[in-house]
Amino acid sequence: MAVKNIGVIMSGVTGRMGTNQHLVRSILAIREQGGVAHGDDRIMPDPILVGRNAAKVEALAKKYNVERWTTNVDEALADDYNEIFFDSSGTTFRKDFVEKAVAAGKSIYCEKPTAVTTDEALALAELAEKAGLKNGVVQDKLWLPGIRKFQMLKQQGFFGDILSVRGEFGYWVFTGHVDDQPAQRPSWNYRKEDGGGMIIDMHCHWRYVIDNLFGNVNSVLCHAATHIPERVDENGDKYKCTADDSAYALFKTDDNVICQFNSSWNVRVRRDDLFVMQVDGTEGSALVGLRKCWVQHHSSTPRPVWNPDIDNPIDFYDAWQEVPDSCEYENAFKVQWELFLKHVVYDEPFRWTLREGAKGVQLAEESLKSHDSKAWVELTDLS
Ligand SMILES: NC(=O)c1ccc[n+]([C@@H]2O[C@H](COP(=O)([O-])OP(=O)(O)OC[C@H]3O[C@@H](n4cnc5c(N)ncnc54)[C@H](O)[C@@H]3O)[C@@H](O)[C@H]2O)c1
Repeated sequence: MAVKNIGVIMSGVTGRMGTNQHLVRSILAIREQGGVAHGDDRIMPDPILVGRNAAKVEALAKKYNVERWTTNVDEALADDYNEIFFDSSGTTFRKDFVEKAVAAGKSIYCEKPTAVTTDEALALAELAEKAGLKNGVVQDKLWLPGIRKFQMLKQQGFFGDILSVRGEFGYWVFTGHVDDQPAQRPSWNYRKEDGGGMIIDMHCHWRYVIDNLFGNVNSVLCHAATHIPERVDENGDKYKCTADDSAYALFKTDDNVICQFNSSWNVRVRRDDLFVMQVDGTEGSALVGLRKCWVQHHSSTPRPVWNPDIDNPIDFYDAWQEVPDSCEYENAFKVQWELFLKHVVYDEPFRWTLREGAKGVQLAEESLKSHDSKAWVELTDLS
């Protein structure tokens, strides 16, 4: 058995996503399980934590027993042992980091969105492609148990022809104005100038979810809103919200599926999960959550009759059946990390590239244009 150690530069690792999803639940979890198995061999990712604030990075390294950390990204990039550069810093810093890493000849992996404009996202993809570097973007939702169960049903032909999809995403994010209800998301999320906004955040996800499940998105109609004009930041200071905090969108796909997605930080949840997506097909329907999935077949579809003068005699929830777990579902970010590591070391296929990431940015940008023009916008093909 051979073990291939591979240095992974982790930029933005002190942030929410960097620490929780990428360091702890992906890279350290992979190390703990003894690496990524490939035949008799194993890939062992060896992280080097990078950040601007030495005290913060050192504390993080100490907390998780990570040996290597630095505040000097150039030094980390100059070391050939570090073959992969990963970035989960704030969106607006991504471009400079990725450009440096491409110049250093690293394999590039990064969080979404890869940029805030399509031109910039596409330029990053082309830069990595021209340099012949392996590259990828986080598209974690594809490996959520709920979505995997949906894909399984689709492979089984459960739905017949898929007609429409209704996605409902969001929850109440506290504004921070009340003492014991601090905001549970970073303040930059609500400032456009810092790369924030519901559309740039979530439409990137909806793009790859829809492209992969229901056919390529070809057009969008979107209304954006900033329902809450002022919030309180991490230091207790009030700030003006300059980005959209809600989006009401329709997407059409090449397979003629109509997808309607509401995304909001200003809704209180009375549904099965923070994100649910109802898919209706001629033969059956599914309600897809993050981990669970419920189905209703044509044969067990109730026959409602409209009569608001009485309580409805049908319990509509009764007609849905939960899809059981049929395999082990690991953390979605970890699954994608393992695929990327195998791509880098063993050249296995990996189709979630920076170019695919640029399509997400494109959908976000065109959604904002649709809002401004109050009209449907057609998407050009970036493939
Ligand atoms: N895949 C997903 O589901 C998902 C979810 C949330 C966020 N994200 C993305 O992950 C990225 C990080 O989001 P987060 O919620 O962890 O944010 P965060 O604010 O918690 O972390 C941001 C990180 O960037 C660093 N940073 C800030 N300013 C910097 C600068 N000038 N130079 C270098 N680094 C700087 C911070 O130190 C921190 O490490 C964003 O691009 C966001 O869109 C993805």
